[in-house]
Amino acid sequence: MNQELNQEVATVREHLMQQLETAIDKAAVLRSPELKALYSRIAQLPQADRAAFGNALNQLKADLMRIINTHQDLAQALPDLDVTAPFALNSEAAKRAGLLSADLGSSHPLMSELELICDIFATMGFSAVESREIDDDWHMFGALNFPEGHPARDDYDTFMTEQTDEKGKPLIAPAHTSTMQHRVLKHYAADLESNKPIAVVIPGRTFRNEDVDARHEHTFYQVEGVYVAKGVNIGNLIATLKVFLQRYYNNDELKVKTQPFYFPFTEPSLEFALSCPFCKMQGCSICSYSGWIELLGCGMIHPNVLSAAGIDPNSYQGFAWGVGVERLVMMKYGIEDVRHFESGRLAFLRQFSASKDGLNS
Ligand code: DAH
Repeated sequence: MNQELNQEVATVREHLMQQLETAIDKAAVLRSPELKALYSRIAQLPQADRAAFGNALNQLKADLMRIINTHQDLAQALPDLDVTAPFALNSEAAKRAGLLSADLGSSHPLMSELELICDIFATMGFSAVESREIDDDWHMFGALNFPEGHPARDDYDTFMTEQTDEKGKPLIAPAHTSTMQHRVLKHYAADLESNKPIAVVIPGRTFRNEDVDARHEHTFYQVEGVYVAKGVNIGNLIATLKVFLQRYYNNDELKVKTQPFYFPFTEPSLEFALSCPFCKMQGCSICSYSGWIELLGCGMIHPNVLSAAGIDPNSYQGFAWGVGVERLVMMKYGIEDVRHFESGRLAFLRQFSASKDGLNS
């Protein structure tokens, strides 16, 4: 075979070897157009050169295949490695614990439901802001119109740190997502002047000093909602929450009922109850045979809360609500004990790991 043909094969060889080193799909190198082009040259060569040229190409292909096969054998021999696992996945301890393999993992049911809740509110024009897991006395109480020493503070008994804020008060693990109201109102207050309403939902993790039982957890999730504009009234509040609940439970027949309540940060304050989706208001153990399930707190934002954030309550009105996510999810799927969510029990979580969409599949 002449010098020129030899050189041609050598150049392609060098190039393909380089490709093999970096290619993720190494077998694809065998289908490279350069190699195909060389093979199609055979028929055009003088008879005398064909056999040697063909042999050189076959040799090149065999060398490529050998490297590819060695690589595949090595890859198969390597165990799956989850660097986030607390101990070696293939160890006896891991097998005893029955860890989910990485490809069976799924998002926690509370997280996928939280996403769905925020998505529904997004379709209604609400943006989402995450709450925080440590806050101060002003955001927890002062900005929300809880006077110093007011007994309503007792309803929000939660955990505090030894570390204090600049006023010497302990920092607080927030007992509700309402701690974010002041920040959100202040941040978006300027939008109101250009006729843009404040429409924000605030998902977050919350904490209370609870006697833990089937209905109470010390750590749970809430979604707060805040809407402020000109001429907002309580009808807007009821309609917004009703539409949300009908969409969340995918049931247009759901009825809602409000009853008076007391929160320092709303006036009037309401408790929102939903017609029991389990018994269609016939009465069952879940709704304590009343046909209704109390779901969330809400109301018209108190003028003092608006003023504290620099919003003139004579010009603007707003409504707000706070809903417990576990409660919503438990009612949707008939989960009887709130402690399942934080238990880390695989038997519970596996029920929701069938698809990426979790419970909604
Ligand atoms: N933060 C209250 C709670 O956890 C719920 C709540 C009631 C939130 C009324 C609100 C509201 O925004 O307006 O008990």
